[in-house]
Amino acid sequence: METIIEKIEDIVKEGFNACGYDEKYARVTVSNRPDLCEYQCNGAMAAAKEYGKAPFLIADSVVERLAGNVAFKSIESVKPGFINIIVSEDFLGTYLDDMGHEDKFGYVPSVTDKTVIVDYGGANAAKPLHVGHLRSAVIGESVKRIQRFAGNKVIGDVHLGDWGLQMGLIIEELRDRKPELPYFDESFTGEYPADPPFTISELEEIYPAASRKSKENDQFLERAHNATLKLQSGDRACRAIWNHIMNVSKKDLKKNYDNLNVSFDLWKGESDAQTYIPDMIQDMIDKGLAYESQGATVVDIQEDTDSKELPPCIIRKSDGAALYATSDLATIVERERDYHPDSYIYLADKRQELHFTQVFRVAKKAGIVKPDASLTFLGFGTMNGKDGKPFKTRDGGTMRLEILISDIQKAVLSKMEDNAKKKGQEDGDSSGEAYETARMIGLAALKYGDLSNQASKDYVFDIDRFTSFEGNTGPYILYTIVRIKSILSKYVQAGGECNNLKIMPPSSDSEKNLALALVRFSEVIDSAYMDNAPHKICQYIYDVSNVFNGFYHDTKILSEADEEKKKGYIAILSLTKDILLTCIDLLGIECPERM
Ligand code: ARG
Repeated sequence: METIIEKIEDIVKEGFNACGYDEKYARVTVSNRPDLCEYQCNGAMAAAKEYGKAPFLIADSVVERLAGNVAFKSIESVKPGFINIIVSEDFLGTYLDDMGHEDKFGYVPSVTDKTVIVDYGGANAAKPLHVGHLRSAVIGESVKRIQRFAGNKVIGDVHLGDWGLQMGLIIEELRDRKPELPYFDESFTGEYPADPPFTISELEEIYPAASRKSKENDQFLERAHNATLKLQSGDRACRAIWNHIMNVSKKDLKKNYDNLNVSFDLWKGESDAQTYIPDMIQDMIDKGLAYESQGATVVDIQEDTDSKELPPCIIRKSDGAALYATSDLATIVERERDYHPDSYIYLADKRQELHFTQVFRVAKKAGIVKPDASLTFLGFGTMNGKDGKPFKTRDGGTMRLEILISDIQKAVLSKMEDNAKKKGQEDGDSSGEAYETARMIGLAALKYGDLSNQASKDYVFDIDRFTSFEGNTGPYILYTIVRIKSILSKYVQAGGECNNLKIMPPSSDSEKNLALALVRFSEVIDSAYMDNAPHKICQYIYDVSNVFNGFYHDTKILSEADEEKKKGYIAILSLTKDILLTCIDLLGIECPERM
């Protein structure tokens, strides 16, 4: 279905054509002066140059042609040559009603049917998941859902960091703690135990301890490096420990991502790509792209148009150890083989920008991806505390995700109790439902607090602000949806029927404002999709919520005496609810039944 702007543009084009002007000047936008009009066309200004006429003469003649069009309540020419449009209530009501009958409210994506890999999450196995990985999970999940909504075949991959030095550190720390284990007996030739030699809490304690030790003890660090290399060259004992680390760690990571309502289609990691490395490097050497430099194998990535010097991409170190870039390149080899993606979207801290520039350029130069493949790095900023520094716990440590989530949930629960007291309700409702509701609202607070910012920017994590039921917050959006749900269910309880009601032309200013916001759905979604920008959806649902609440405060809905009018209200309420629910789902946010 055409967007409402396209529909208006079609009409304005007729006007330009009929007056002998090129229709390319008939571009329509949402008005930037909502006090004057709803839509505008500034094309007469540009057309003036081509036709050597004063812009207002052009605007005047177009407006004269279009006056009386049923789509417009008014169309005016305003000097020096603006065309200001106010649409008619009938036109708006019909458009909204049509939206309600279409799949995805009539949204037609500008690009679709592509195969897309979204590489997000990026947790490092055996290291606890901390807030640093939160943004990747939250933004990536939303980007994945938006891509899918646009009709693409989307594959989300967690791409675990599972092949680095942390593995060597854990192996050596384990050796120091439990030297009696068969993995450390060189003469052992039997089957290694099926049960892991540690629990998740031990594992979580082993890594930081080993990491600390390696900073004070060079010999230990050296041993860890060697163990990592041994693992990477297939040593049986190291591999057996690695398997235990992975099993224990993945189970815990899954639980954490589940709690965030984030899920992946693939649970692959850097380790999976390793088998593709030798051939890939050989191919780059054969193509004359990779060469030896100071003992390492590198590929130049500098391009003529670069304004600064970019270092070559190192694809192999002198000791043969796997590098971050090599793993990412080999992962692309694997993904090409398995999925032939048209595009790749990576989420990571924006400080990894150079890494991704290197990887993308090498992938193109070496022909690992199709020449027209799209490779996008969505670098995100840091989540800061109120002091403007990277978010930490009170004692200065890195905050664990589980703790963060439970803190938010507690904050929400206490706000819910306060609200209940204010309303004079019994506060005995710390039932399972209240707890589940607080969980959903807490997650919404956390996710919306993140997603409502442009991803590349740093933001301040402010638990009080994020959990507020007022202002541009997740809880406010949910509160609005729950309010609509509750009106609809009262209507149904009174014997009403919500489905298949016709949306009527808006009958008040506040209803028209709501209608004007709802009809923007397709444009907003497409723009959020094309730019991989969930914050645009947040801005939109905040606008919709505000105009809805304006309408709600202005209008007697259930007590409306005119039954037909009431049905019209219920119809626009249902559509508002469906649109908001669709939008929050694209953000990875769920809505409770009650709040
Ligand atoms: N594991 C990495 C980290 O913690 C993030 C991985 C990002 N994805 C990628 N394909 N390199 O920094």
